[in-house]
Amino acid sequence: MARAAAPLLPFFFLLLSSTSPAAAQKNRLGRTPQMGWNSWNHFGCKIDEVIIRKIADAMVDTGLAKLGYEYVNLDDCWASHDRDSQGNLAANGTTFPSGMRALADYVHGKGLKLGVYGDAGLRTCSRLQPGSLGYEDQDARTLAAWGIDYLKYDNCNNQNISPLTRYNRMSEALMNSGRDVFFSLCEWGVDDPATWAGSFANSWRTTEDIKNTWESMTDNADKNDKWAPYAGPGGWNDPDMLEVGNGGMTIEEYRSHFSIWALVKAPLILGCDVSSMTPETKDIISNQNVIAVNQDKLGVQGRKVQQDGELEVWAGRLSRGRVALVLWNRGPDEASITASWSNIGLNQSAVVDAHDLWTDEVTPSVQGNLTKKMDSHACKMYVLTPK
Ligand SMILES: *[C@@H]1O[C@H](CO)[C@@H](O)[C@H](O)[C@H]1NC(C)=O
Ligand SMILES: *[C@@H]1O[C@H](CO)[C@@H](O)[C@H](O)[C@H]1NC(C)=O
Ligand SMILES: *[C@@H]1O[C@H](CO)[C@@H](O)[C@H](O)[C@H]1NC(C)=O
Repeated sequence: MARAAAPLLPFFFLLLSSTSPAAAQKNRLGRTPQMGWNSWNHFGCKIDEVIIRKIADAMVDTGLAKLGYEYVNLDDCWASHDRDSQGNLAANGTTFPSGMRALADYVHGKGLKLGVYGDAGLRTCSRLQPGSLGYEDQDARTLAAWGIDYLKYDNCNNQNISPLTRYNRMSEALMNSGRDVFFSLCEWGVDDPATWAGSFANSWRTTEDIKNTWESMTDNADKNDKWAPYAGPGGWNDPDMLEVGNGGMTIEEYRSHFSIWALVKAPLILGCDVSSMTPETKDIISNQNVIAVNQDKLGVQGRKVQQDGELEVWAGRLSRGRVALVLWNRGPDEASITASWSNIGLNQSAVVDAHDLWTDEVTPSVQGNLTKKMDSHACKMYVLTPK
């Protein structure tokens, strides 16, 4: 499977840069999109070690861990306002009194992995904790010593230094830290990171922050779409974390959100309180058929391939000659959508078994096209297996 090649660095950059512009050699992580949980979408800045341990417990007790959700990630506001006397990052002693090493031990004891949040600037976006600009090696060593497995690295207070320089420097520091740390860039897509981050990051945000609304979710899906050729095993486009279960959308809208994120090989990072989710939320995020599309080893990002007003067809290739398909009614009324084989990468004469991933029903021997009626803001999702 061809990956888009990393672009050549501009000539002036090679001449003027004092640090090595050579891309850090990448780790072997993220062969399929990362799956896990992050604190931001539900808890914002109000996190502490009691909440995080409760989430880790729930990831196992609800069966989510077994489905592949492995990372438990702290977002902004876990660290102390200032570095310690040696210049090291330190956990906030009030909210995380046991410290990060103890929290990592607890999460690892559950068979899960622990992630933290940092910033490629002087301070994080909340300004409540230090950024890592100029402290990359020291902070990477600190994370490795604690047993951290994942770094989400934000872009606030960045002194207008080129993101390529700042993010590459942290990537090299992590590579030299002696620990495999999944590197998740959160540069908001402003400098088209898909075109330069693939050689040293495992995922990169392509959009601004998601909000818990239909408009924001659909907008992020659309903005992420054009970067599809740059995604593949080891490096993924990231239209931001899931809002499923946080209450701002209907069940059908959340089902669409999860289906499209799975199809486009987005990271599946849950954002609700998994320790108190509804059965409807649990059903959506636990659908093994849909998760299997996301985790397909071919690693091809599905795309919007057909559009008639607000009636859309998204599709992408899967391993073993199969095709993943989403019919998505983004309009205000019930409507029928027809996906034609010629638009989704199938031979017009191909005969397929169509597995509806939400009803779990299989329609045998479908030829030429698939037509389904669905409610406003609902979707149908299939895996088509040629005979
Ligand atoms: C620790 O977190 C609390 C709650 O967010 C905050 O009020 C306090 O200032 C933080 N302490 C330090 C040293 O950053
Ligand atoms: C489509 O199928 C027909 C009949 O099996 C075959 O002759 C043709 O080469 C196929 N076309 C493509 C593009 O695979
Ligand atoms: C869909 O396929 C059927 C059967 O092959 C055909 O009769 C029908 O015209 C097709 N509809 C569209 C909209 O392509």
